[in-house]
Amino acid sequence: MKRRSFLQLLLSALGITTLASLLYPLVRYLVPPGTAEKARTLVIAKRDIPLGYAKEIVFNDVPAVVVNRPGKGLIALSRVCTHLGCLVHYDKENRQLLCPCHAGTFDLDGHVISGPPPKPLPVLPLRVDGENIVIG
Ligand code: FES
Repeated sequence: MKRRSFLQLLLSALGITTLASLLYPLVRYLVPPGTAEKARTLVIAKRDIPLGYAKEIVFNDVPAVVVNRPGKGLIALSRVCTHLGCLVHYDKENRQLLCPCHAGTFDLDGHVISGPPPKPLPVLPLRVDGENIVIG
């Protein structure tokens, strides 16, 4: 390959790369987000979450947990801590949700018990339909 051909090929590749890097953000801006269909509901079998246990799920890209609370029934809560966004975990022994980042704790209604979180965990819509739990 001659030097002139090589330089033309190199400039063409550079031009295409530059054009693509300019067009991509424009296309992302013009195409509305959410055109991809998100799950409207998520169905879980009730038997998958015995009394006192929890199941971690992802609903519409949100990490969440469904807890079968003794005496209070089922609840679905976002796992995203309202402090700085770490993911909380279910502590079965103490019946609470713990944030590993700064020791924030939440009760099983999502309310803050202690630590720096400023707000409760968001509650996701949940209903029981026969033998299934429907989130959303
Ligand atoms: S991110 Fe959860 S307590 Fe700080």
